[in-house]
Amino acid sequence: MTAKYVMAIDQGTTSTRVILYDHSGATVGLVRKSLNARFRQPGWVEQDAALIWENTATLMLEVLEQYQIDSADIISIGITNQRETTVLWDAETGQPLAPAIVWQSKQSTQIAERIKDSDVIDTIYAKTGLWVDSYFSATKIMWLMEEHPEWEPLFEQERVRFGTIDTWILWNLTEGREHATDMTNASRTMLFNIHTLKWDQQLLQLAKIPMSCLPVVKNSADDFGTTSLLGTPIPINALIGDQQAALFGHQAFQAGAIKSTYGTGAFIVMNTGHEPQTSKYGLLTTIAYSINNEVNYALEGSIFVAGAALQWLEEGMGILEDVTLSSQMAQNSSLAQPYQDIYLVPAFAGLGAPYWDQKIRGAAFGLTRMTNHMDLVRATLESLAYQTKDVLEAMYDDTGIERTQLVIDGGVAANDYLHQFLADLLQIEITRPVKLEMTARGAAYLAGLQSGFWQDQADLPKNVPTVTAAGRAYQSERMVKQYQNWQRAVESAHVFAY
Ligand code: G3P
Repeated sequence: MTAKYVMAIDQGTTSTRVILYDHSGATVGLVRKSLNARFRQPGWVEQDAALIWENTATLMLEVLEQYQIDSADIISIGITNQRETTVLWDAETGQPLAPAIVWQSKQSTQIAERIKDSDVIDTIYAKTGLWVDSYFSATKIMWLMEEHPEWEPLFEQERVRFGTIDTWILWNLTEGREHATDMTNASRTMLFNIHTLKWDQQLLQLAKIPMSCLPVVKNSADDFGTTSLLGTPIPINALIGDQQAALFGHQAFQAGAIKSTYGTGAFIVMNTGHEPQTSKYGLLTTIAYSINNEVNYALEGSIFVAGAALQWLEEGMGILEDVTLSSQMAQNSSLAQPYQDIYLVPAFAGLGAPYWDQKIRGAAFGLTRMTNHMDLVRATLESLAYQTKDVLEAMYDDTGIERTQLVIDGGVAANDYLHQFLADLLQIEITRPVKLEMTARGAAYLAGLQSGFWQDQADLPKNVPTVTAAGRAYQSERMVKQYQNWQRAVESAHVFAY
């Protein structure tokens, strides 16, 4: 009997999901598990790498059991992941040497500053497409190595393995047989040359990171070995960073196609075709996907805090009972009289594109004695839209490609207030799929293409139902003013950089 499903593993910052798709693209099974982070010091974000693997394995078994699916019916597995998050482990024991350092984490800020003070920034940008920041894996590996000189013998014996989360999951799924990654994940380490498509010797020497700990780099759709975790051996045919996976999930294959994903952070990615496109505004040049050794590049604007700000309102501030209530609360706030013109700069982990300020901290402006919790919820949602506009303006200036439409996805994109506000602010049509899991879908498409489940890109399922919000012309004047105020708020917040 021929296999019926592709399995996608989506290991994100706040949760892990395993989803099964059939040939028509319908979701036939979905299970998820939340994942916590540890904040040992202000700005540090760490996760338990062993738990990440344990959750993934549990969910893979659970989805089969819950939906009564036979493992022999799964043709292929694709893995997509939170990018940059860094795991080091001992190849002999298979145990992580330290907690995973999450992409948002700031413990390597000093190292990034040190690199910035030398004169290699331009070289690094030219080779990797990245602006030096603690966000990228290289500074995290350097920090771990500096903190743990006792690991030196392990490095000398070539026992240490580095991986982003795709690599860590793959290693475990294949019981240590495969130590590999794909070009999209490699392109986020600050060690991978996006032009030669190889680990860069000069950068490795600068960072004092031995080549022996790095994974083999393959295409996003490729042969990554098989796993016997589910009984029948199943091939793993795709690895891809989650933001690039969402772009692929939207089938944004044309140069100029663009998407914005609102998860823990928000990431706006434009497919720029086969040529890398540089930026004057701090956007990243990165790899969108590679298939059959043909690379598509992307320009990316990375916003570090999106859903994480709503999580902060809920868990940190205790002013939001549940994130699903945020849309209605923001709506109520926007209708209140008199209107509270307030701005929140959610720079809890510094600011990414186009500002790249690791030291800036969050701030709120325009508070009065009348400001209430609903106004703060609204200001938080609006800050996601303003940051999106910051990035889109930069993209427009860099590429000259005018946007008339934008597709969005990710859990926070379900927020109706944000959806409409974004359309009003940008004065264009904003479309979101009813099923927001574009990241997993992208990984499934790649695995399905590699395994022959779908023949080619034209054979991929069409017609994912969508909802569109159009910018309301009567809002445009007010939006121009509010966006100017947002820019002033960011400028003022820079004054309080630590
Ligand atoms: O670069 C970090 C990004 O990949 C995290 O994505 O969905 O976990 O916010 P997400």
